[in-house]
Amino acid sequence: MTETDAAGGDSISAVISTAADTTRAEPPAFPLQRGCPFFPPTRYETLRETEPVARVTLPTGRHAWIITRYEDVRALLADPRVSADARHPDFPAMGVGEREAAARNRPFIRTDPPDHTRHRRMLQAEFTVRRVTNMVPTLTAYAEELVDEMHAAGPPSDLVSAYANRMSTATVLNLMGVPTDDLEFFRDVTRISGGRQSSAQEVQAALGGMFAKFDALIDRRLREPGEDLFSRLVVNHLATGAVTRQELLSTVGITIVAGRETTTSMIALGTLMLLERPDRLAELRERPEMLGEAVEELLRMLSVADSIPLRVATADLEVGGVTIRAGEGMILLLAGANHDPTVFPNPTELDFHRPDRHHLAFGFGIHQCIGQNLARTELEIALGTLIRWTPTLRLAVPFDELELRHDAATFGIEALPVAW
Ligand code: HEM
Repeated sequence: MTETDAAGGDSISAVISTAADTTRAEPPAFPLQRGCPFFPPTRYETLRETEPVARVTLPTGRHAWIITRYEDVRALLADPRVSADARHPDFPAMGVGEREAAARNRPFIRTDPPDHTRHRRMLQAEFTVRRVTNMVPTLTAYAEELVDEMHAAGPPSDLVSAYANRMSTATVLNLMGVPTDDLEFFRDVTRISGGRQSSAQEVQAALGGMFAKFDALIDRRLREPGEDLFSRLVVNHLATGAVTRQELLSTVGITIVAGRETTTSMIALGTLMLLERPDRLAELRERPEMLGEAVEELLRMLSVADSIPLRVATADLEVGGVTIRAGEGMILLLAGANHDPTVFPNPTELDFHRPDRHHLAFGFGIHQCIGQNLARTELEIALGTLIRWTPTLRLAVPFDELELRHDAATFGIEALPVAW
């Protein structure tokens, strides 16, 4: 597959030789496309060296800064002068629909303290290592069941729909205590709400459908609470008046949306990457105890949530020799940071033995992924089970024919045809 960087062309550095040039010419378009599914757009490399804080034009027509160096991305993620509030006029959403929906529904990922703190605390206790460990038997049984079904129906099989999507959706619904009988419904909601081509109306309609489902579930749980997270949220936070119904709906909604698409992509792309690196796959088969390290390295390498951290400066900030003015939007590129060779030497080398594990695939600072313990465990189970029970797994189409998903908040792949 060749690098296309379709949106940016060759002009990115030429057009903006200094930040001051932004008054002279329209900054180049963002997002840039990955040429290879495993690595960030190659343009990030040039930018990191020559223009680590670069002005771009988003599909909405707004301008924003993109940041590509590890130290800058990490520092900004932890900076209290940096806001995640989607209501800022220059909030750098990549689609019109995304911005309007985030400003209207206010999922806590797009809010600042104290609102953010209040909502995050509601969930924090549910994502401890102990809670996640308790889910291991259920998740393992589910992964084995899916592999069995795949084996019974194929080969060939599409690993995205038959395995990755079902595993990730069932996991997050299971955690929440939401019935798992309608996995496709949640897949479609996530696709539309995270799709950069979706209009504001389409996003609102998709989220509205999900909220209506949860609204009915709230009533059921108020009458008959169970042992699940959804019931605890309803009983401990809604019934006590700590949160409104709309706040509860949006917190449950963002947790499902954020937890589903990311892990689907990681399971599918992680499998693809291992199939393309038979030496690494052989290492894992020989030493399954390396699975934790392998997952960590795949998270860094693939950085599927690359442009999820969208922020706005609330004061003038000096970053990499550039002044970001109060009110200006910025996109803190996680794949840019995770491929910074000053922190991760030979960044495109899949190396399970890297000493530094402080990658930013889950972000950093107050919004750092609340589901990361669950995500790591789920990925270990999903990849481990697949490798163990399908020793002859292989790609069923030429690599170049794979269709990548560039238009979503999370980078991914449409389908992954496999055989065995
Ligand atoms: C490999 C899988 C995952 C990746 C790569 C990932 C990545 C991220 C990143 C980068 C952020 C921070 C965004 C920002 O700073 O603006 C985040 C936040 C979040 N993630 Fe994840 N995530 C994953 C899995 C999950 C799972 C499984 C769940 C839940 C079940 C989840 C729920 C959330 C929530 C609710 C937030 C918002 C946290 C906050 O704003 O305080 N994520 N995730």
